[in-house]
Amino acid sequence: MCGIVGAVSTRNIVPVLIEGLRRLEYRGYDSCGVAVHQAGALRRARSTSRVAELEANVKTEEVQGGTGIAHTRWATHGAPAVHNAHPHFSHGARAAAGAPGRIALVHNGIIENHDELRAELKAKGYVFDSQTDTEVIAHLVDHLYEGDLLDAVQRAVVQLRGAYAIAVFCRDEPHRVIGAREGSPLVLGIGTGERAGESFLASDAMALAGVTDQIVYLEEGDVVDLQLGKHWITRRGESGRFEAVQREARTVHAHTGAAELGPYRHYMQKEIFEQPRAIADTLDAVEGITPELFGDGAYKAFKEIDSVLILACGTSYYSGSTAKYWLESIAKIPTSVEIASEYRYRDSVPNPKTLVVTITQSGETADTLAALKHARSLGMKHTLTVCNVATSAMVRECEFAYITRAGAEIGVASTKAFTTQLVGLFLLTLALAQVRGRLSDAQEAEHLKALRHLPVAVQAVLALEPQVVAWSEAFARKENALFLGRGLHYPIALEGALKLKEISYIHAEAYPAGELKHGPLALVTSAMPVVTVAPNDALLEKLKSNMQEVRARGGELFVFADGDTRIENSEGVHVIRMPEHYGALSPILHVVPLQLLAYHTACARGTDVDKPRNLAKSVTVE
Ligand code: M6R
Repeated sequence: MCGIVGAVSTRNIVPVLIEGLRRLEYRGYDSCGVAVHQAGALRRARSTSRVAELEANVKTEEVQGGTGIAHTRWATHGAPAVHNAHPHFSHGARAAAGAPGRIALVHNGIIENHDELRAELKAKGYVFDSQTDTEVIAHLVDHLYEGDLLDAVQRAVVQLRGAYAIAVFCRDEPHRVIGAREGSPLVLGIGTGERAGESFLASDAMALAGVTDQIVYLEEGDVVDLQLGKHWITRRGESGRFEAVQREARTVHAHTGAAELGPYRHYMQKEIFEQPRAIADTLDAVEGITPELFGDGAYKAFKEIDSVLILACGTSYYSGSTAKYWLESIAKIPTSVEIASEYRYRDSVPNPKTLVVTITQSGETADTLAALKHARSLGMKHTLTVCNVATSAMVRECEFAYITRAGAEIGVASTKAFTTQLVGLFLLTLALAQVRGRLSDAQEAEHLKALRHLPVAVQAVLALEPQVVAWSEAFARKENALFLGRGLHYPIALEGALKLKEISYIHAEAYPAGELKHGPLALVTSAMPVVTVAPNDALLEKLKSNMQEVRARGGELFVFADGDTRIENSEGVHVIRMPEHYGALSPILHVVPLQLLAYHTACARGTDVDKPRNLAKSVTVE
């Protein structure tokens, strides 16, 4: 999704800006651009192609300067086109066509009152070149500019409604960039060593990896003023006036996101195969089950709560849906799971004794962050996140955290983040079970043994890849697919369907198998592949009956069946044999072949697996 990089320096900063964009590229974008202060004027280059093309353009057009901003855009308002790409310039009110720009601005987020502001600015003589909400901010800053950019931005942001992170600079103040954030992440980077005196801005510390490790995480409402060798941060005080605030710089060893592909064709394939290592790393520090795995004071908080509310989006929502089964059956604690973007806007009945658990790979998903804040505003004070990024906004917002150690996940389709989230959520289940007197020492030992053996068990499932590849040829010719699961494996069927539609663009739906006869069975013909998740659990015989219902209508079954299920290959029934049943942790094994099926089907269809159309890795807008 959108990314921001900005800098103030005395040497040409364009390579740093471009490299920053490259580090953010994997998140998904449809256009990009860079603007600098060059010889007393604003210069920019924009592209609807990749960052590599933008880099070539800036070289050809000799765009260079010490102060600049850059952006990757994921279209919300206005199509992905050059005139909508950031940076946007304001040429001033009633400017003649081709007049030089005075304000340059980039923006992540959505301005909700852009229509109203656009109408006011048009009435003042501003001419709009794009359909974006961002250009409105550029003109607003220009309108309020009276020689001090900080003052203009401070007066502009109080008029904005919505979520934003912005970076802006002005033709008349060559060594200054102003940043501001509300609802969208923004960090300040402080140059050290050979970069002493330089200052940076970015929407993610990862963009500044290799440039500086001294990072200040700006807080909601902060406006930061970057100049050569100095910066200061302000925010609106109770009087309504902006006042200086201190924010601590942290040493952040941000990963570069530029992991090598090695022998793999795509990052998604690499990440699927990294799961044994990611799970082992996520379990590395676990010596036994204790609430303190989630942070100091967790025992006391876990004692105080009587229910769990899980908030998440997409794949993370499905890991939460799986955890609900564990939490209720093992820890015996009432659990609800809500899609964050729905929960934040619905009237719910808050229970102050609920533990709010957010699940997020990135830790920056706008809907999940907003849902957390909403839950807190309703009086739920105990919050915990299962997150893959230790420095993310979510980890900073929550009282407790379990940091999964999946490593950087580059492919838009989440794979190793999902399975490591499940590991974190299983540990949470065991810790809550322990606090509630539902976990004997023998049970704890048994569960820990199964967890520790998981990397080996996942490795065995990965060895099924050639069989999955054989199926993928048939799937690649389909336009629809159904996925069936029951109980604990129903969320796994949902996740399998999401993976397939996300990267292969095949329409896929998942149902609890018992629900088939209540409607979706009407879709079943010989043209409909029905993927079935078949563990050898208490629901196996019920599932077999549901499979018969499919066969009786001519539907073709593709079954991932545990070794001891006695489901055999037969006409219209294709079986890939999984290892023996893995008990409560079985979902972690069963999701793996579904990831492989989606991946190889997408490859057979020739889609852009790591950057599927219309999607972004980190969804930082509502
Ligand atoms: O970073 P998060 O886990 O909060 O992201 C949530 C979803 O956007 C994400 O899981 C999305 O559904 C994935 N692309 C699915 O593969």
